[in-house]
Amino acid sequence: MEVIIAPVDQQARLAADAIEALLRRDDDSTLGLATGSSPLAVYGELIHRHEQHGLSFARARGFMLDEYVGLPADHPQRYHNVIAEELADRVHWDAERVHGPDGLAADIPAACADYERALARAGGVDLQLLGIGTDGHIGFNEPGSSLSSRTRIKSLAPQTRADNARFFGGDVDKVPVHCVTQGLGTISEARHLVLLASGRHKAEAVHQLVEGPISALWPATVMQLHPHATVLVDEAAASRLQ
Ligand code: F6R
Repeated sequence: MEVIIAPVDQQARLAADAIEALLRRDDDSTLGLATGSSPLAVYGELIHRHEQHGLSFARARGFMLDEYVGLPADHPQRYHNVIAEELADRVHWDAERVHGPDGLAADIPAACADYERALARAGGVDLQLLGIGTDGHIGFNEPGSSLSSRTRIKSLAPQTRADNARFFGGDVDKVPVHCVTQGLGTISEARHLVLLASGRHKAEAVHQLVEGPISALWPATVMQLHPHATVLVDEAAASRLQ
């Protein structure tokens, strides 16, 4: 695992460099997309490169990490809509090529199995962007998630619902209780993992991720087993590293 301590704007350029190199080498690469605050600067940088330097997403495929269960199709916080608004629409990326777990399926386990099959048909993810929860989750694999888990329904931890209340007008009761998330085993199959973290509130999770024992109690520690993992953290998020 490589750990790079850099301010958020530099993290964004480094992650965008890796994505751009991939797309320029192979324009039908598959990108793994995260939502939340952490990837926003990267998406901003990719939009800039699309607009100013012609970086094309036309033949790329995207697979999202996770989705809330039960949010109406037009809800602004439904991750399908978030990723369209924050990245896909702005780089003219055809919605048909950007996939996400189905949080509205009548049969969620069947939809999860379909999602795993779609990932496999696409040949897997070339580069997976990740954020990390304050409790150490990646995707929405909360503490206690099996390190070999696959896409499935999960309950969100109270800490995660509290952390994400800011996206729901500060009202924790509006944050869904369930989500569908790629599993830790699914995420681990991506060929390159790129995790972004900033702020002191992430320091304990980053410490565990980099220096803790591998444990389902800190799900991000599964990244220690990965042959190509890059962790981009600012000074505050790195403040508990030895
Ligand atoms: C979201 C996701 C989550 C977030 C994590 C950090 O798709 O997979 O793991 O990355 O909750 O969220 P932020 O970046 O908002 O602090």
